[in-house]
Amino acid sequence: MRMIFIGPPGAGKGTQAARLVARYQIPHISTGDMFRAAVKAGTPMGQEADRYMKAGQLVPDEVVIGLVRERLGMDDVGVGFMLDGFPRTVPQAEALEVALEADGITLDAVVVLEVDDSLIVNRITGRRSDPETGEIYHLEFKPPPADIAHRVVQRKDDTEEACRKRLASYHAQTAPIIPFYASRGLVKAVDGVGTPDEVTERIAAALQG
Ligand code: AP5
Repeated sequence: MRMIFIGPPGAGKGTQAARLVARYQIPHISTGDMFRAAVKAGTPMGQEADRYMKAGQLVPDEVVIGLVRERLGMDDVGVGFMLDGFPRTVPQAEALEVALEADGITLDAVVVLEVDDSLIVNRITGRRSDPETGEIYHLEFKPPPADIAHRVVQRKDDTEEACRKRLASYHAQTAPIIPFYASRGLVKAVDGVGTPDEVTERIAAALQG
């Protein structure tokens, strides 16, 4: 399975990706996770990315494209992959297409997780994650268990202000890649509102169809 996961911030891509990569036994390639790891490691690329992420802006295309090309050159993607958060602009989608064509690789599906903007701010500002396990929680919808509640953290870009900027950037810069992939017959739109289990089953059904 070679798939791309698209959706607004807080749509549940990370939540669903963890379930789907376990089901399909494919690597999860999240550019957001890769940037957060680089920020934590204090690399020059991480320091550059951090400035954009905190402001709710996209990291420049040339930085992201180089990072993903390098990742797709690794051996584990031979079994397939789930790209989460990439591509996020039309130039990124075009660069990915060129790179995959050069390697003779075709995509199976582009899943678009749909969640209305009115639900997004609450999902984002209530999100917490466990730095030890990577598990994603929500203060209201999936509260962290009492024994780990002291160690969960909030992302720096999960403020309401940054969230609104990320949403605006999604509509202006990322949504235009949906027609790009629709014209290639790859888009599977999935309703992202419901319990996480319901959404997982909708995605699995869409991937089979
Ligand atoms: P990235 O990490 O990709 O963030 P994002 O796309 O904004 O998505 P999120 O991680 O915020 O949300 P999600 O959809 O994974 O939701 P989650 O499952 O956590 O990117 C971060 C930044 O990196 C970007 O802003 C940009 O600066 C940079 N970047 C990354 N890729 C880039 C690229 N290609 N080009 C340029 N820049 C790039 O769920 C959210 C919350 O909702 C959680 O608390 C969860 O528990 C809860 N939740 C999940 N599902 C449900 C449900 N069904 N019902 C109720 N609550 C739910």
